[in-house]
Amino acid sequence: MSEWWRDAVFYEIYVRSFADSDGDGVGDLAGIRAHLPYLRELGVDAIWLTPFYPSPGADHGYDVSDYSDVDPLFGTLDDFDALVHDAHALDLRVIADIVPNHSSNRHPWFENALADPSHPDRARYVFRPGRGDGPPNNWPSNWGGPAWTKDEASGEWYLHLFAPEQPDLDWHTKQVRDDFDEILRFWLDRGIDGFRIDVAAALYKDATLADEIEPFPASKFSTDWRKAVDQPEVHDVYRSWRRLVGEYDNDPVLVGEVVFSDPTRMTPYLRNDELHMAFNFTLLFQPWDADGIRDAIDTSRAALGEVDAPPTWVLENHDVTRLPTRYGGGVEGLRRARAAALLLLALPGPVYLYQGQELGLEEVDLPDEVRQDPIFHRMKGERIGRDGCRVPLPWENGPPGFGFTTGAPWLPIPDAWDAKTVERQRADERSTLSLYRAALALHDELRGDLAWHESPPGTLVFDRGDIVCAVNVDGAPLALDRTVLLASEPLDDLLPPGAAAWLR
Ligand code: GLC
Repeated sequence: MSEWWRDAVFYEIYVRSFADSDGDGVGDLAGIRAHLPYLRELGVDAIWLTPFYPSPGADHGYDVSDYSDVDPLFGTLDDFDALVHDAHALDLRVIADIVPNHSSNRHPWFENALADPSHPDRARYVFRPGRGDGPPNNWPSNWGGPAWTKDEASGEWYLHLFAPEQPDLDWHTKQVRDDFDEILRFWLDRGIDGFRIDVAAALYKDATLADEIEPFPASKFSTDWRKAVDQPEVHDVYRSWRRLVGEYDNDPVLVGEVVFSDPTRMTPYLRNDELHMAFNFTLLFQPWDADGIRDAIDTSRAALGEVDAPPTWVLENHDVTRLPTRYGGGVEGLRRARAAALLLLALPGPVYLYQGQELGLEEVDLPDEVRQDPIFHRMKGERIGRDGCRVPLPWENGPPGFGFTTGAPWLPIPDAWDAKTVERQRADERSTLSLYRAALALHDELRGDLAWHESPPGTLVFDRGDIVCAVNVDGAPLALDRTVLLASEPLDDLLPPGAAAWLR
């Protein structure tokens, strides 16, 4: 059994926005396949594909209407097979996103459940009578409003932690478990190297449907305060999935979206017979502050060390504001994001990059009329949504398609990204793309555990074997007494604030 994932660098592909092969303005599997050499050249080990299954698209694929096929928008099963084949030939593993918490409301299971309350498929979902005229309890949807929608025909309500188009499956029903075993096997038999599990801590809800305590906090970590989720039964599912993936000799992995601000709550999911990895967002939610960053690193490592699981490191994904923007935007935001790249890639354990992070892309401030995220439409005013981090990648110079598409991109690509294209950055050795490529080329040389050095306030310095990673977050210029292998900024003898270097 190989533990290839323990130090692997994963690259998240948001399928709609990576590369379009047929000119419809939406990315697809053939587009990804054509750009695999780019990912090989970049130096990542594995790709994670966001959902490409048939979906009405209420949440761009996170509302699945058939778990064992490819949406025609993204291609065919043959395209999937060809993609996996070519990726493997380039020594790139491929993991798929599985969405077990909810289906689409247009999945035949839910359509049957709505059409006939006595249909066995009704038990796959959480239909309950209301309380008086209202829903069965006070649970809110993550995206505003109640987590319940009334089925007018029967008078019962169905549960949806996300949009009403995403009814939650009832994992207490055995058929649901059996179906997902079959779904996992379907993709494993086609050669997939693992699964990213959407909303992994929420599959089981408190069966008593007890009310949540009000007022609800406006926390980023919505699973933190919900008593209804993180139920003990879910661990049995992950133990059985771990056994299931263990039957395949390509060492497939399970990575859960288990979102808690306190990393000790992740540890039960990472016992050695459960998930291999869970996303650790502690670093992602840290501002650019040396003490906070060090604390996020130390608490994650201590918590997961208990179960001998490596923390994963993540700074961006398809749900959060792009890093340079979070770090203040403009020249300074990008400078910090470049320094953070060297920090991220120096940490021991799996790293997850999000497409475009290697280009230093900023969040795009899109006009309201082009926004598509259901969060924007459901919570207008309160939350702007995630479209701004999902703008298609600029491959080549020249609007409007920027080499992403020969048609009109599904979200407009800003003209200013002419300076950010892969074409341009490839030719510039000081570009963010070149920095990522150089760091990934050295990544295998960072071995061994992390050992902190004493360092002045506002700085972070640690060893990985014989390589030292020095990050000057916002301290005084830091003297460097070794040979610089790689730096996020051109350096003299001193490392200025907002810069990082790897030294030997
Ligand atoms: C996860 C996904 C997000 C999706 C949600 C509902 O958080 O990352 O994009 O909207 O689950 O499936």
